Amino acid sequence: MDEKTMQDLLGKVFTAKGSSNIAFSKYWGKENEKLILPCNSSISMTLDNKDVHTITSVLFSDKIESDVFVLNGEIQDLENKDTKERFEIVNIMRKIADTSKKALVISENSFPTAAGLASSASGISTLVYACNDALKLGLSAKELSIIARQGSGSSCRSVVGGIAKWNKGGNESDGSDSYVEQIVDEKYWPELMDIIAIVDPGKKKVSSRAGMKQTVETSPLYKLRPKYVEENIIPQLTEAIKSRDFEAMGKLIMKESNDLHAVMLDTYPPIFYLNDISRDIIYAVHELNQSRGKIIGAYTFDAGPNAHIITTQENKDGIISLLKNIDGVKEVLSVKIGSGPVMLGNEEALITKENIPKFLKLTA
Ligand code: DP6
Repeated sequence: MDEKTMQDLLGKVFTAKGSSNIAFSKYWGKENEKLILPCNSSISMTLDNKDVHTITSVLFSDKIESDVFVLNGEIQDLENKDTKERFEIVNIMRKIADTSKKALVISENSFPTAAGLASSASGISTLVYACNDALKLGLSAKELSIIARQGSGSSCRSVVGGIAKWNKGGNESDGSDSYVEQIVDEKYWPELMDIIAIVDPGKKKVSSRAGMKQTVETSPLYKLRPKYVEENIIPQLTEAIKSRDFEAMGKLIMKESNDLHAVMLDTYPPIFYLNDISRDIIYAVHELNQSRGKIIGAYTFDAGPNAHIITTQENKDGIISLLKNIDGVKEVLSVKIGSGPVMLGNEEALITKENIPKFLKLTA
C-alpha cells in the first residue's frame, strides 16, 4: 500500500472509549424481539471507563473490500449469529448515512468477555459513538441509544453516564420511544461504587438472549414482573437516587436482583446463574448490613454468578475485605460511577499503520 493511501485511511479512523453498566433494576424479557423493545423499563449505573473499559476504533472506506471485525485480537466470523446481530448496528448507521462503504472495526475489552460483566454494553456503546463521528451523523445520545438498543438491549444504557433509565416505550411501532435518559450525572452522587467479585470468569452457559426468551415463554411468576417493576420499582428507585437515599436504594437493588433470579428459577427448564459462592456472598452482605444496623452494601447479579456490590466510597474497604474472605472469590475489582463514552485521539487508536495491512484487503 502506498503512503498516500495509508495516510488517507488513517485520517478516517475514529476511536471511542466507554464502559459497561450495572443494572439496579433489570431488563429481562422482550415485547418485540426484532426491535429489542423490553417488557419493562430498567435503571443502571454506568461504570467508570478508567477502571473497566472497551476501546473501539472504526474506519469506513470505499477502498475496503468487505467488513472486518476484530475483537480482543481475533477476527470475528460475521456469519456467526450473535456477532451478526451485534454488527447490525453498523448496518443501521450505514443506512442513516446513506453509504455502502465497508468497515474495519477493532475493539478491545479490559475485562473478560462474557463474564457476566455485560461487555457487549461497552462494545456497542463505543461502536455507536465511533460510527457517529466516522459517518459524520451528528446524532444525539438519545438517538444513539435507540440504535445501540437494537444491537443488545442493556447496551443502550451505557450511551450516557451517571445513572440512566431505559424507557420501555411501546407506543411507537418503530421503537422510537424506547430510549435512554439520564436520571442524574456521575457528579450528582460521585461516591457510588460497584465492587465486583469475580467468581467465574468463564463464558455463561445460557445467553441472556436465550434465557429471557425462555422465561417470558414459560414462567408463570414472570407474568407479574413487568407491571410490578414499571409501577413500583422504577418510581421508587428513581426517587431514592434523586434523594441520595442509600438505604432505600440498596434495599430495592437487592430485592430486584432476587426477583430476577426467582423468575429465572421459575423458567422451564430452570435457569441457574447463581452458584454456592454467589449465595455465600448474599448471606455475607446481609450479615454485614445487619451488624452495622443499616444498609451499606447492596448486591446485584446479572446473567452469571459474579457479584456486584453497590456501595459508597467510605465503605469500599470493608466490602472488599468481606469479599476477599469468601472462599471461591477469585478476584475483586472496584469501579466508580462513570461518564458515558468519550472520543480518543489517533495516538490511542487501535487501527494503526502497522495493523491496517494485516486486517484489510483493499479493492484495487
Ligand atoms: C441480566 O442486553 O444482554 O444483564 O438485548 O438480548 O442482547 P439482549 O440482552 P442483554 O440482557 C441483559 C440482561 C441483564 C439485565 C440488565 O442488564 O438489565
